[in-house]
Amino acid sequence: DWTMRAFREEAIEKIRAQVGSGKVICGLSGGVDSAVAAVLIHEAIGDQLTCVFVDHGMLRKDEAKTVVDLFRHHYNIPLVHVDASETFLGALKGVTDPEQKRKIIGKLFIDVFDAEAKVVGGADYLAQGTLYPDVIESVSFTGGPSVTIKSHHNVGGLPERMNMKLVEPLRELFKDEVRALGRELGLPDVFVGRHPFPGPGLAIRCPGEITAEKLDILRNADAVYIDQIRKAGLYDKIWQAFAVLLPVKTVGVMGDGRTYEYVVGLRAVTSTDGMTADFYPFDMAFLGATATRIINEVKGVNRVVYDVTSKPPGTIEWE
Ligand code: XMP
Repeated sequence: DWTMRAFREEAIEKIRAQVGSGKVICGLSGGVDSAVAAVLIHEAIGDQLTCVFVDHGMLRKDEAKTVVDLFRHHYNIPLVHVDASETFLGALKGVTDPEQKRKIIGKLFIDVFDAEAKVVGGADYLAQGTLYPDVIESVSFTGGPSVTIKSHHNVGGLPERMNMKLVEPLRELFKDEVRALGRELGLPDVFVGRHPFPGPGLAIRCPGEITAEKLDILRNADAVYIDQIRKAGLYDKIWQAFAVLLPVKTVGVMGDGRTYEYVVGLRAVTSTDGMTADFYPFDMAFLGATATRIINEVKGVNRVVYDVTSKPPGTIEWE
């Protein structure tokens, strides 16, 4: 793609001009945007860049491993991997309110990242994978009070606190352009094409109190669901698909015994920007087969339901 090749060259020049011989630190979230920003910056300034990956323990199955393998082994980019899952789980103990979960995770994320940046030592710049829609969304139209439906923790907060200059090479791009740039930079297709994933991760896909046990069940159910979608060739037709673990146990039968286990909700939507969305019309055979696989393969689940709500009135996430 020649536009992206030209963009790449130009962006690299701009990064070099901005940063000079300074040191840059970049937070990886596991998502596409921060990964593309990091690879681009590394191409521009090499090991003047250090990446910090704060693993809050609420990522999808094998996600942390994928990121670490990609950066350390495939690209050879210096990467600090902080496993902070116990800290986050501890801070979330007993918390059930969705906005409270976001606030706690957002604040702790900044604390952990900031502490780690100090360990790395003396970075002059903070790199972020901010996209054009993020730039627009954080500007209010009238200057009056805006209504927060859900607070997103991955924009803002960090730069003020850390008092660093920002490097944001993706500020002019839309999501599909970032994906094209990612491919141009040699990021694997499965990584670049992944569905968007919220900053607070599985915490907001686990209504009610979060426990390590529930997160494990959710991660496993989600992995089976996504595997089904990939095998059916539907992954790229869907904007976002994920499992939700409901804080409800229901009765079932298995063999000649009674079971009393959790319910998993399945969500899949089409959308162009996440602002509105339609539920994806899977056929019943697919849903039935997926439910059977989840119940057979994931311990702790004995019932599966499919969410047929569009946005509005529903939101894409359940919290
Ligand atoms: P909703 O649920 O509001 O989601 O319809 C719209 C899009 O935003 C994502 N989302 C979040 N992303 N932090 C994020 O980084 C958040 O707290 C958050 N909440 C929702 C959601 O996954 C969807 O793509």
